[in-house]
Amino acid sequence: MPEKIFIFDTTLRDGEQSPGCSMNLAEKLEMARQLERLGVDILEAGFPIASEGDFEAVCAVAEEIRGPIIAALARASQLDIDRAWEAVRSAARPRIHTFLATSDIHLQYKLRKTREEVLKQIAWAVGYAKSLCPDVEFSPEDAGRTDRNYLVECCHAAVEAGANVLNLPDTVGYCLEPEYEKMFADVKARVPGMERVMLSTHTHNDLGMAVANTLAGIRGGARQVECTINGIGERAGNAALEEVAMAIHVRRDVLPVFTEIHSEELYAASRLLTRLTGMVVQRNKAIVGKNAFAHEAGIHQDGVLKNTITYEIITPQSVGAPTNHIVLGKHSGRHALSKRYEELGYPLTKPELERAYELFCRLADRKKQVYDEDLLGFMDEGFEHIPEMYSLKLFQTVSSTEGRATATVELEKDGTTSHDSATADGPCDAAFRAIDRITGLTGEITDFAVHTVGPGTDGVAEVSIQAKFEGREFTGKSTNHNVVEAAAKAYLQAANKAAYELKRQEEKQAAHSGPIHTHKLTDQFFPGGY
Ligand code: KIV
Ligand code: ZN
Repeated sequence: MPEKIFIFDTTLRDGEQSPGCSMNLAEKLEMARQLERLGVDILEAGFPIASEGDFEAVCAVAEEIRGPIIAALARASQLDIDRAWEAVRSAARPRIHTFLATSDIHLQYKLRKTREEVLKQIAWAVGYAKSLCPDVEFSPEDAGRTDRNYLVECCHAAVEAGANVLNLPDTVGYCLEPEYEKMFADVKARVPGMERVMLSTHTHNDLGMAVANTLAGIRGGARQVECTINGIGERAGNAALEEVAMAIHVRRDVLPVFTEIHSEELYAASRLLTRLTGMVVQRNKAIVGKNAFAHEAGIHQDGVLKNTITYEIITPQSVGAPTNHIVLGKHSGRHALSKRYEELGYPLTKPELERAYELFCRLADRKKQVYDEDLLGFMDEGFEHIPEMYSLKLFQTVSSTEGRATATVELEKDGTTSHDSATADGPCDAAFRAIDRITGLTGEITDFAVHTVGPGTDGVAEVSIQAKFEGREFTGKSTNHNVVEAAAKAYLQAANKAAYELKRQEEKQAAHSGPIHTHKLTDQFFPGGY
């Protein structure tokens, strides 16, 4: 009988804590809703002690998302565990996920503790978490580089103290498949009481083996797998959920397991994450990349036309990906547009449809065919949940091969328009500076990516921007035929998010009539990091 693999999604924790992937509360909730639609079994909503924002987001997810178990991460300390419990206690099914490093490298250089001390701390932390929450997961961080006998002792201590789930992370993405598989088999065979405990994988992609190692862990006895949408996560990322789920599905002939993931929601989850974080997936990314179902070579096209089975092991429909068919032209109406969005997994509200139709007509006037990719690109233009404080009314740049570029920008805020101009070395920078002059916020670009959307030479440019305002990163994304205009709009979107966040902070501060203390990982809480 095939056994179920429980999907533990950590997009909002391990994923969100990686550079360029931060999300605000509304964005995390939107992502959590999609993860629920996707059918994840456990949703790790954040690391509540890391910051006030993380705490609030975990609380909000715990209150609203009722399908999956909601987990919160905590180091093995009372302060962390109390905070994690406070954040998830309102969930339908809460879980505390506590962790402590166990490799000699981490003990010596990071924790500066002996093996005996760490062993005691594990037993205490798991026992304490269990006194608060019936569902406790323990992770011996850097298990992949931990002495095997000592790892068995640590797991034993956690199981005796009441852990329901034992997660064995390859924290630094160092393990090869046979090693990772054997670690699970060893722990399963040598730790007493394992029949009551679920083993879990948690792999990182530093050597490009996160998904392969996840499958190895399953072969070794794991029945829970930790992964993220698009494989986002610390450094090279975590195992990509979409790849793990589809590998399990497609190769069920050799892996006698299954998941309850609704695979038709995978593409929508990937797109949503990209939209929220601005982190674009590579074209040739498995399952959700733009080229994942594209056939360019003549021989391949011929084979696929005869029978798709020749070169496709997964259908685009099974993961909810667009099939690249020509769908709409300038004679199409709102009905067809709304139907196509529905098929793509995005039922639109009336105002959203109006906005989409406006963008569609504008593009259809300039372009013969409008593709699914174009429609998805519109979503970055008009469906922002953050109120647009400033909107772009007029935009003009002058640049030449010599000399500086000039940009003039007109923005509207609350019915009042303001315009300003700026010069810089390039037209994009000039546009950003002109926007800064009007909003009064100064952004520093930390990432800038341009992609083409839609096939053919009449494809539009999709610009993703990451910019730092007042020490915090915000993202923006826009598509347009004019790259500079797309860049200006993407930048303005990031500036709008920053302005909205600053306003929110001010309002909160006024309500508390005192300063808000936010604790970041690097604050006095964790002088040595974690
Ligand atoms: O990679 C890791 O070890 C982690 C733990 C906190 C589970 O993310
Ligand atoms: Zn991790």
